[in-house]
Amino acid sequence: MRHWILQDARQSLVLAARQDRLPQVVYWGARLPDHDDPATLAAGAVRDVTGGMLDENPDLSICPEAERSFPGQPGLILRAGDGTPILPRFAFLDEVQDPEDGALTLRFGDVAHGLRLVFTFALDPDTHIITAQTRLQAQSPVHLHWLAAPVVPAPDLGDEMIDVSGRWCGEFQLNRTRWAPGIRYRENRTGRTGHEHFPGLLLPGRGATNTMGEVWAFHYGWSGGHRMIAEELADGRRQIQWGHAARMEQEAGTEFSTAPLYMVYSEDGLNGCAVSFQRHVRDRIVTWTKPGAPRPVHYNCWEAVYFDHKIPVLKDIAERAAALGAERFVLDDGWFGQRDDDTRALSDWKVDPRKYPEGLGPLIDHVHGLGMSFGLWFEPEMINPDSDLYRAHPDWALGSHDQILGRQQKAINMALPQVRDFLYDRIAAILRDHPIDYIKWDHNRVLPAPDAAQTRGSYALIDRLRADFPDTEIESCASGGGRIDFGILSRTQRVWLSDSNDALERLRIQHDAALFLPMVVTGSHVGPRRCHTSGRTIDIAMRAWVAAQRHMGFEMDPRELTDHEATVLREVTAWWKANRDWMARADILRLDSADPAVTAEQQMCRTGAQFVVFAGTSATSSQIAPRPLRLTRLDPDRLYDVRLLNRGSLHHLSRGTPAIKDGPMTVSGRWLMHHGLVLPWRFPETMLVVEGRIHQPDGA
Ligand code: DGJ
Repeated sequence: MRHWILQDARQSLVLAARQDRLPQVVYWGARLPDHDDPATLAAGAVRDVTGGMLDENPDLSICPEAERSFPGQPGLILRAGDGTPILPRFAFLDEVQDPEDGALTLRFGDVAHGLRLVFTFALDPDTHIITAQTRLQAQSPVHLHWLAAPVVPAPDLGDEMIDVSGRWCGEFQLNRTRWAPGIRYRENRTGRTGHEHFPGLLLPGRGATNTMGEVWAFHYGWSGGHRMIAEELADGRRQIQWGHAARMEQEAGTEFSTAPLYMVYSEDGLNGCAVSFQRHVRDRIVTWTKPGAPRPVHYNCWEAVYFDHKIPVLKDIAERAAALGAERFVLDDGWFGQRDDDTRALSDWKVDPRKYPEGLGPLIDHVHGLGMSFGLWFEPEMINPDSDLYRAHPDWALGSHDQILGRQQKAINMALPQVRDFLYDRIAAILRDHPIDYIKWDHNRVLPAPDAAQTRGSYALIDRLRADFPDTEIESCASGGGRIDFGILSRTQRVWLSDSNDALERLRIQHDAALFLPMVVTGSHVGPRRCHTSGRTIDIAMRAWVAAQRHMGFEMDPRELTDHEATVLREVTAWWKANRDWMARADILRLDSADPAVTAEQQMCRTGAQFVVFAGTSATSSQIAPRPLRLTRLDPDRLYDVRLLNRGSLHHLSRGTPAIKDGPMTVSGRWLMHHGLVLPWRFPETMLVVEGRIHQPDGA
């Protein structure tokens, strides 16, 4: 029996292998005591067999093998170069476990087929994230159909799984599916992470909520489309598999790899997983251009002018945005080629002389003169048939000649080195010639077919640009949140979460995305009074506070603002600037709201000394008087001063006397967590903001 353990203060992951077989995860959960004997744990995990079963349960190993009678989905499906199916059978080769950080590499070989599997596991003791990856090496080229990242069993004492789907303007929709014999199978064949298939999964133990209970969580860090299998076998065991979408490799090869799979176990609800992912993204995945620098307030002109770029108008808008508190001006789509609408010019990355006769310089100078930095939009992986590049190189487009277009465009073949060089040269020329500290990197259509080489090509181009322009931040956008994953986030610093600037929709999307994303990378903009994608008219205070929950920005035409709206926006922006530094390092904790109409979160600073609660009411509540809102992760025995920041916004129809209406109240963490804050009655489509900090007896 071989065994390996990865553990930190929170969790233990125990791998064990009989003879020289592939190991199984025999335990993953709450941290075990040191004196537990791994051999006993492995023996103790063996399940019984009875009539109608094989004489022992086939291993649910980290790469389940069909050849060893595994009855479920195997972890590896491949064919020899000539197309003959291969049924491999792996045996132990060697292991390396880093004495410092415990990172583990295990190698197994199949001599008959000339194959090797290399598994790596690393556990970050601060974020508690386990990063696991599988590599396949072959002596002669093989066709890969499916390769799973290390496979783990799912908990038995859990009734459902939560995975994530979505759509344009409706990203991060959580789906709860009951476990049942058979497979929950999600396969994203769009060739990008997609609105439809954020690669995340949460497995709550029975009774778990945002704040309580056991949860196991996964994220597959890849931008090309994934496959997830959650399978309950006939014998009752459950397995979780993640990998690239099947058959994404077009060529036979000798080296294949999954993306990193990020996993975490929590004993304190979904928030335990969410905080781990948030911290891991912020502190381990993203490479910041200016670590620790305040996140600048964005102004993005897209919904103000669309393709209609006129320098005097843009200058006027920039002045107004700066006066509201913006610190970065982003020139969106429409500045290049003959880009007067979305039918043309993608790939012609040269400044349009009709709109900018003296180049971008005068606008950038103006923006700088207002104290803002300058950002620019690109959509490098795309080409319009109506473009100079397409006319010169129609063969550079990906997919068939007569494919269905998406937003009148095709993807450009990023696997071709000449394509990457062309794009690099065009983008680098713009970056070299102008002081541009930010790129909004868009990707507005799905691929004609999934293709891992396309994603690798995109990564290579971004990596090259990052290496040569290390001070330029990149935001990942794909019609809003169509490319959000840890693979792209290891190359970018912000995501455009959604094209919906509807504050009600954003409130929900942000809340659910916080299961994986920290505040610092999550762009959120104050949209127009009447939302362009929903038609809803929402009050400026609600719009501003929802944007202030994340990396704040504006995207409306500032010329539409009334004096009152401008004043509210200035005030909320000033509040955000005063608080952004600690909020940038805070944990976003989703609160268990007793009222489904209230979406609430608590942003908690790392020391626990300070927090802010955002309680957004998206609809009229069913019950007439607001129910208490329980907070979380406070010190039960300490007193906290809590105050309703926006008391002034209360309506006179709130006639009662909840204590917090009168001014700050001082109350214990235990009360706040077990009774909860009684907030005043309010209209739907409003946000209440409560600030809290540990009470200092001397008022210090
Ligand atoms: C889609 C993005 O999501 C929008 O924010 C905007 O940048 C447009 N593309 C521009 O074409």
